[in-house]
Amino acid sequence: MPVKPRKILVSNALPYANGSIHMGHLVEYLQGNIWIRFQKLRGHQCTYICASDVHGTPVMLKARELGISPEELTEQVSAEFLRDFSDFGIEFDNYYTTHSPENEALVGEMFETLRANGDIYTKTIEQAYDEKEGMFLPDRFVRGTCPRCGTDDQYGDACENCGATYTPADLIDPISVLSGSTPIKRDSEHYFFRLSQYEQRLRDWMQSAALEKSVLAKLEEWFETGLQDWDISRDAPYFGFRIPGTDDKYFYVWLDAPVGYAASFRNLCDRRDDLDFDEYWRPGHDTELYHFIGKDIMYFHTLFWPAVLQGAGFRTPTSVFAHGFLTVNGQKMSKSRGTFINARTYLDHLHPAHLRYYYAAKLGPTIEDLDLNLDDFAARVNSDLVGKLVNIASRCAGFINKRFDGQLATELHAPELHATFADSADEIAEHYERREYSKAMRVIMALADEANRYIDEQKPWVMAKDEAQLGAVQAVCTQGINLFRSLMIYLTPVIPGVADDARAFLQEQHWHWDDAKTPLLGATISQFKPLLTRVEPEQISNMVKQSKQS
Ligand code: MSP
Ligand code: ZN
Repeated sequence: MPVKPRKILVSNALPYANGSIHMGHLVEYLQGNIWIRFQKLRGHQCTYICASDVHGTPVMLKARELGISPEELTEQVSAEFLRDFSDFGIEFDNYYTTHSPENEALVGEMFETLRANGDIYTKTIEQAYDEKEGMFLPDRFVRGTCPRCGTDDQYGDACENCGATYTPADLIDPISVLSGSTPIKRDSEHYFFRLSQYEQRLRDWMQSAALEKSVLAKLEEWFETGLQDWDISRDAPYFGFRIPGTDDKYFYVWLDAPVGYAASFRNLCDRRDDLDFDEYWRPGHDTELYHFIGKDIMYFHTLFWPAVLQGAGFRTPTSVFAHGFLTVNGQKMSKSRGTFINARTYLDHLHPAHLRYYYAAKLGPTIEDLDLNLDDFAARVNSDLVGKLVNIASRCAGFINKRFDGQLATELHAPELHATFADSADEIAEHYERREYSKAMRVIMALADEANRYIDEQKPWVMAKDEAQLGAVQAVCTQGINLFRSLMIYLTPVIPGVADDARAFLQEQHWHWDDAKTPLLGATISQFKPLLTRVEPEQISNMVKQSKQS
């Protein structure tokens, strides 16, 4: 049954331009990438956007330290991010930056609309100030002793030991991280957004957005605590957009960062005749907008962002998909244990498909954390991808290549078995749609087991010894290759590079999700080359060793 193509705009969280992409980030980008690839394979009109999030104090200070401009720094970092993404098979329709004219124009427009509606006011607040450096200090740039438990050297916003949250003013013996001097308190006028007025509108949005249970629970918690107005300005020096009508006030990075989604899309629209900005960003159109994010940035995406969009006359997200955090070997990623692994370090040792598959096998739609256990990773990839999946093709391809000149039979040997595989398409699709990737992988691997069982029972290597049974050998191997083909189509969103190679082996130009329902018969196929190799223990230990060193 052909489905009406949906118009879908999907974003991944904009990576902060202050470090390298690591295995934790990849949970975010691979979850989104698998979903968008699935939607595209189903024939929907999907656009996938991202950008570097470049504003704020950390980028400004890092650039200063390196002796380059923040613009130069963010260009270098974006180029590095793009190489990492692309080598992991993560291809955005547009990858942009938040420091763009499109973003400045959109933020300015939203701010003016909000101000005209009475959603913005100014108030003087007291903040930590470093006299030596001549700048106000973000919470994280003040350290001191926790006022609750007395642990020293804690950040200005929270204690890592007892979990207390507070402001830098509460710290005992506070110190500026920048100069080591004792910060003073200083007054400054800030701009505030009236988030407190948005509770009902946010509750309405939350009902329509079909948020996942664990995300809803978080929102309920926040509503109970009460919504506070949001400080959206920062004082100079600051790398960001200056607030219109001021000399020394800038928009806080978290105001312009999500607007960066819309700005990246607008930038793409200027190059693409088939995309219309308003159709995706103004209310009243039949388009869908989804944001993939990590659980740490839910407050920004489920409260601030929909409120700002509503207030400024933009459409709100159809839904927000949040995921949990990555642990490695059951613990927080750690440099000293060698488990803080950068994307590039991984790629120096292992195949991207291995990680893509492993994450898919572990990912669900909730904000539950997921663990990359390195032993389990090797065992799982070797058993599922190499032992089960690729094995199906390698057991059958040799006979077709050598004995039948690469020619597949014109009929299947067991059509009902192929039909079983085809009948699973809807169930697997449903799992992908709901981001139940681990369930989708389980169904696919159960089918792979069936395919291997079929080949075990038929034993084409025995039949091949008897000339009279050659026709049957061709039919059985054609069957096996078709079962493999259906599974590869189902796995295309997860391991697209391997799927491309498999498709080339079958000499097919293009795959659509529904192609899994019609077998490939009578066609000529290419020489089979191994599609994936096993994960070896040394690859993992070398990767960990390298991570310890860097
Ligand atoms: N710049 C903001 C996002 C702005 S979106 C308008 C940001 N950047 S980030 O680089 O810190 O994180 C990017 C994404 O990676 C976020 O969704 C974040 O949750 C995710 N992750 C970062 N570390 C992670 C783990 N260790 N595990 C899983 N996801 C992680 O936040
Ligand atoms: Zn404490």
